[in-house]
Amino acid sequence: MTETGDAAPVEEKLLSTGADFLSYRGRTICGMVMESKGRVAKATHVGIPPDLTEEEHGRAAFAGPVSHLYRTIPATAWVDVDGPLRPSAFELNLLPTDAHVPVLHNDDLRIGIDRRATPSSYASRNADGDEIVFVHHGSGVLQTDFGPLSYDAGDYLVIPKGTMHRWVPAGDESFLLVIESAAPVTMPDFGLMGRHAVVDPKVLVTPEPWSAPPADWTGEGDGRWRVRAKRRQECTTFTYPHNPFTAVGWAGDLAPFRLHTSDIRPVVSPRYHLPPSVHTTFRCGAFDVATFVPRPFETDPESLRVPFFHANVDNDEVIFYSRGDFFSRKGIGEGWLTLHPQGAPHGPQPGAAERAAAKETADELAVMVECVAPLSVTNEAKAAEDPAYTTSWARGMGLVDG
Ligand SMILES: [Fe+2]
Repeated sequence: MTETGDAAPVEEKLLSTGADFLSYRGRTICGMVMESKGRVAKATHVGIPPDLTEEEHGRAAFAGPVSHLYRTIPATAWVDVDGPLRPSAFELNLLPTDAHVPVLHNDDLRIGIDRRATPSSYASRNADGDEIVFVHHGSGVLQTDFGPLSYDAGDYLVIPKGTMHRWVPAGDESFLLVIESAAPVTMPDFGLMGRHAVVDPKVLVTPEPWSAPPADWTGEGDGRWRVRAKRRQECTTFTYPHNPFTAVGWAGDLAPFRLHTSDIRPVVSPRYHLPPSVHTTFRCGAFDVATFVPRPFETDPESLRVPFFHANVDNDEVIFYSRGDFFSRKGIGEGWLTLHPQGAPHGPQPGAAERAAAKETADELAVMVECVAPLSVTNEAKAAEDPAYTTSWARGMGLVDG
């Protein structure tokens, strides 16, 4: 081990994929020696002995000091978990409609769902943070201060902090996954891959300004239009005697935008299983948002095809499953969300590798959040939890009944 000077406090360095991790008492500490002892793979994620599983034990998600443990039985084969770190799964389809329902939160982010079939009678303004909204189902228009943005299933809509907006679903229910970020939402820098890799900035769509306020919004029936602003989870209502979408032009580099997940060109390698961090779509200070889009599997027979087990030492991991065949998760359907708290290993469930071996593509659409601060589960989400998930690895191995 070696130590070099670094004055940044440890709290600021605990970013999920910060390569300059690990800081302690003002100094950065890096692993320098790669040891290899006992039975191991030919290379990381390559040529894993068939009777062993590989588990990544690392810091800072997939960017810090790391070792790989080669186990005869995966660490997820527990038959009981008693305490707050149990992996859990929630069927969000069971949560109420026509309301914003909070699901998970910490000081850096809040995750909730919003299911609505009718236009909102008021506009909103979030003064607590930026919002990343993933459209799980439905279509419609997001009206904003900057103009309208139409949306469809599979879109991300990013709404900067304080932007007035109003949801106008078209026809069927819109099922929205809302991620609120205290830190500004940014796009990742893919370094050597250049400025156009994964998400070319040219595919981002911003609104055209209004020529006149949207006529479909007639206020709340009393000749008044109301904007509800949220700050520190408290609501303040601003009432206007006119439609407040009055901006007819805008200029600058802060605006809502839309990104459709089909415009994400994922990074893949035929010969190496890349870590999930290559699928990062948004960086938000102390958490990242990644998107798993359809992509070809590795073709090299020695390459791992399913996510490797990992110990998740520094991050809580959340995955929302939107569409497709979630090859690493059995019993998880569309509209479900899983939470793997830091401190507990996780990985593919029994049979996942065999299922992946029979396919050429990972046909899935899922949104992952990896965050530094532990998440709290709301009572609303607890009501939709599937308790069987916690021991699903052992169940798949025949270690528990059911
Ligand atoms: Fe993971």
